[in-house]
Amino acid sequence: MSTIPDYKPGLEGVIASETKVSLLDVEQEEIVIRGYNLIELAEKVSYLEVAGLLLNGELPGRQQQQEMQQEISHYLELPDYLTSVFPLFPSSMGMMDRLRTGVSMLAGEAFDLDDRSKTANKRKTMHLLGALPSIVAGSYRSRAKQEILRPLSRLSFSANFLYMMTGSEPSQREADTFDQSLSLYSEHELPNSTFAARVIASTNSDIYGAMTGAVASLKGPLHGGANEEVMKMLLQAQTPEGLKELLDARLAAKERIMGFGHRVYMKKMDPRATLMKKSLYDLAQDKNRMDLYEICDLGETIMAQKKGLYPNLDYYAAPVYYLLGIPIELYTPVFFAARAAGIGAHIIEQQENNRLFRPRVRYTGPRGLHP
Ligand code: ACO
Repeated sequence: MSTIPDYKPGLEGVIASETKVSLLDVEQEEIVIRGYNLIELAEKVSYLEVAGLLLNGELPGRQQQQEMQQEISHYLELPDYLTSVFPLFPSSMGMMDRLRTGVSMLAGEAFDLDDRSKTANKRKTMHLLGALPSIVAGSYRSRAKQEILRPLSRLSFSANFLYMMTGSEPSQREADTFDQSLSLYSEHELPNSTFAARVIASTNSDIYGAMTGAVASLKGPLHGGANEEVMKMLLQAQTPEGLKELLDARLAAKERIMGFGHRVYMKKMDPRATLMKKSLYDLAQDKNRMDLYEICDLGETIMAQKKGLYPNLDYYAAPVYYLLGIPIELYTPVFFAARAAGIGAHIIEQQENNRLFRPRVRYTGPRGLHP
């Protein structure tokens, strides 16, 4: 009898960690973040408050929020050694690859790199939360031969993030919609990238290394990369009829449709997508782009009828980001910048109560060969 327990491809349904950070409760249709419902948080509080909740276990009060805002503003200003590297990247280098390199380089300025304490790991997560938007926006603008924009002190964290990417100061609705999308992306239990980060952190490696691995994971089209593919599909479709034809052709060719399906939600709509759809409706009305909303809505109906599959957050975040003027190549980097709050919380938790990840395999190769 084998002593190796059952093999679950993709670790589906396997409990890999204990956590107090979050839970996807599919039965109750609730994404629990430290006891709160993520959708309610995204509707009522800012992204920075959600980040504070993730890192500290409780929602920050007014004073703490101000302190967080100050700390983040400091880290939003990128050091010269980083901005001077952007022009050295080959122009063909993708945005997630730039981000991965930038995150790794941030370790260079961490005086407390090898301190695994909760306090040091929280500081380093704040460092990442501040620096990531500037790396995302700065490395893009450097490649586009545009001026790298410094954050403006009068703007909120999310408004600055948008401004540094697009070059225009956002309206209140634009900043609020973007902020809400960041909250929705902030944490989602144990997806591949968070798991990758926990696995790396479990060797007692540093937080920048764990985050760098998480960027690589999130880049994959089966994970974060889907939001960019969704937008390319919507632009190719152009009209509701165009989308119908495109979906028919892709489904007939047995292709996957990006932005649909989810390992945990399976046959239910991702609750984050429901809220993002509402935001898309409001934004599209504001910008006189209800045509885009209608295309998306039809896609949702077709996929439910033909495949019994429902949108995930990426499906509705993509057109929202498009209407906010964010370059398509930055959708996945933005997703990561938001998710760094949740991943940071997981790394802190992992290193506070660590046990090295080291699973086993079911060997299916030959035995008994001789050279
Ligand atoms: N389009 C078409 N068919 C699909 C899709 C899809 N988007 N998703 C699942 N299916 C089908 C599969 O082909 C498979 O069918 P089969 O049993 O006939 O072979 C069945 O549904 C089950 O698919 P699996 O890949 O086994 O399901 P899994 O749980 O591994 O997949 C995943 C989850 C990867 C998200 C999948 O739904 C997918 O590829 N979706 C598109 C990519 C995407 O949108 N990713 C974003 C995830 S959410 C996020 O990161 C915010």
